Amino acid sequence: MRRTKILGVGMYLPEREITNQDLEAMEELQTSDEWIRQRTGILTRRFASEGQSGTDLAVEASKEAIENAGLSPDDIDFIIYATLSPDYFFPGNGCFLQDRLFGDRTIGALDVRTQCSGFIYSLSLADSLIKTGQYERILIVGAEIHSTALDFTFAGRDVTVLFGDGAGAVVVGPAPEGHSGILAHALHSEGKYAKELWTEYPASAHNPRVSHEVLDQGRHYPQMNGRMVFKHAVTRMVEVSHEVLAKAGKRVEEVDLLLPHQANIRINQMVASHLGIPEDSVVNTISWTGNTTAATIPICMYEALRQKKLKENDLVLLTAFGAGFTWAASLLHW
Ligand code: ACO
Repeated sequence: MRRTKILGVGMYLPEREITNQDLEAMEELQTSDEWIRQRTGILTRRFASEGQSGTDLAVEASKEAIENAGLSPDDIDFIIYATLSPDYFFPGNGCFLQDRLFGDRTIGALDVRTQCSGFIYSLSLADSLIKTGQYERILIVGAEIHSTALDFTFAGRDVTVLFGDGAGAVVVGPAPEGHSGILAHALHSEGKYAKELWTEYPASAHNPRVSHEVLDQGRHYPQMNGRMVFKHAVTRMVEVSHEVLAKAGKRVEEVDLLLPHQANIRINQMVASHLGIPEDSVVNTISWTGNTTAATIPICMYEALRQKKLKENDLVLLTAFGAGFTWAASLLHW
């Protein structure tokens, strides 16, 4: 059976920078640069400007990924778009991206809704579609606009300081003869914890989907049990990393680079330390991106390439944890 390889990577962050000092200056938020820096490792993040949508970010990241792969949009035959912040309830963002990048080429477009694990879930699916020969070149994009759903008052400060807007994209296709490419994936979910990190409104589960009353109560903002999410994230990311290594018959000592989801620098330090992966074999971007959810891992790939930390055939471990709860890992040869 043929193997799958990542052929190109792209990213895009909006221009508007919001530093911790900018958040500190928001009186109602009652936060500080020191708290954010110490508890999360975040120094700054980007927010979309007025009218800039997730699709806008995705278009830029996708164009770069396609170009970086040495391809043109005509070479892409399927889109997978991971996001927890779609532009609209429906249709999915994949359709908007199809229109913007591919016009009359009516290629399939699938939205994936597994939050911070969305990129790895998408990669796993794309890997199967390439291996089985259903498609030749798949564009995977993770893109988020968090800034329009953050509560800039005291009630929302635990969540608000964590998130940034951004997009990351990759193109995958058949690996060259003899290249092992993507080796294995492990995907998990545990819906009993869905309400520990979620956004309750607007929702089709409620009639009406949203009301003045719930808006006044701030129930349209994300709610998070931070400590619980933190503990589960560390445990599950370590566990699923061991699982994917075992599936591929590899040892953790063989891993050249760990590209973890970016939710909190302390989570990643603990994951790396529990796995026994040295700090200089981990790429983090959270200090300047914040948590961009489905976009974090392709952004980390981009940064690893920029830092020349990622070389042909390196063994790369990806792992993520987020709302759902969902968690996942992939192991691949670059
Ligand atoms: N600024 C200042 N103080 C704050 C802030 C803030 N922004 N937020 C909370 N605090 C206060 C709390 O009120 C609390 O005060 P108290 O001691 O007087 O009660 C104190 O800081 C400590 O709060 P904790 O919640 O215990 O702080 P913790 O060290 O756990 O850090 C954090 C909080 C950063 C949210 C952490 O729990 C975390 O990162 N959790 C995981 C987040 C995550 O991984 N999310 C998943 C991905 S997102 C997705 O899937 C959508």
